[in-house]
Amino acid sequence: MLYSEQALAEEMPHHIRESIQTVNQQAHRMARVVKNLLDFARHSEPERRETSIVTMLRRTLELKAYDFKMNHITVIDDDVPAETSGSGHAMLDENQMVQAILNLLNNAEQAGMSAQPTLEIRVSVLRVGGWVTIGVEDNGPGIAEEDLPKIFDPFFTTKDIGQGTGLGLSVSQGIVALHGGEIWAENIRGGGAAFYVKLPTISR
Ligand SMILES: Nc1ncnc2c1ncn2[C@@H]1O[C@H](COP(=O)(O)OP(=O)(O)OP(=O)(O)O)[C@@H](O)[C@H]1O
Ligand SMILES: [Mg+2]
Repeated sequence: MLYSEQALAEEMPHHIRESIQTVNQQAHRMARVVKNLLDFARHSEPERRETSIVTMLRRTLELKAYDFKMNHITVIDDDVPAETSGSGHAMLDENQMVQAILNLLNNAEQAGMSAQPTLEIRVSVLRVGGWVTIGVEDNGPGIAEEDLPKIFDPFFTTKDIGQGTGLGLSVSQGIVALHGGEIWAENIRGGGAAFYVKLPTISR
């Protein structure tokens, strides 16, 4: 990646530039695939600390802010409470949980890009009793009914070869399970998919 990026900073004929751009894009793609495989295989014990769920969620959204802006994706976060309202703390390995939610946001982004001219992703946080449920809902094409029972299986993907490894949701499910939580998916009436992550909060 570095060498191809250095090369691209130089003057060169158009057809050579295109080839080097391809090298660079494919190197990035391979890095993504390897990262997914490592996340999947690693299964490290989480290092859990008391963390505000809303802070974790806002940090995750921040990581996608640039991508979403570039792809004209609107994030609706009316249902994410302000930090001060005490929306719940949980014992989280924050890096892992950020990854779990990122995988959902990436899927929503990818689902919408092929289907909708303007994709909206609605993010919500609902606190009930000792649990907080994070919702990630999109207005893409939704999930085929026959695929719904399979989407959390490792290597299940409906994306083209080279586009998806089918590991995102199984990684997310593994992380959520290690936190004593639950993850599930539904189709939204009127179109789109919804994913929910339910986590136990710390009572105090
Ligand atoms: N928001 C969504 N809308 C529609 N279909 C979805 C959505 N999220 C997941 N899916 C379906 O679930 C499948 C599995 O998702 P998963 O994230 O595990 O793998 P992937 O996105 O195909 O590949 P990877 O995440 O490894 O790049 C997807 O291929 C897609 O068919
Ligand atoms: Mg995915």
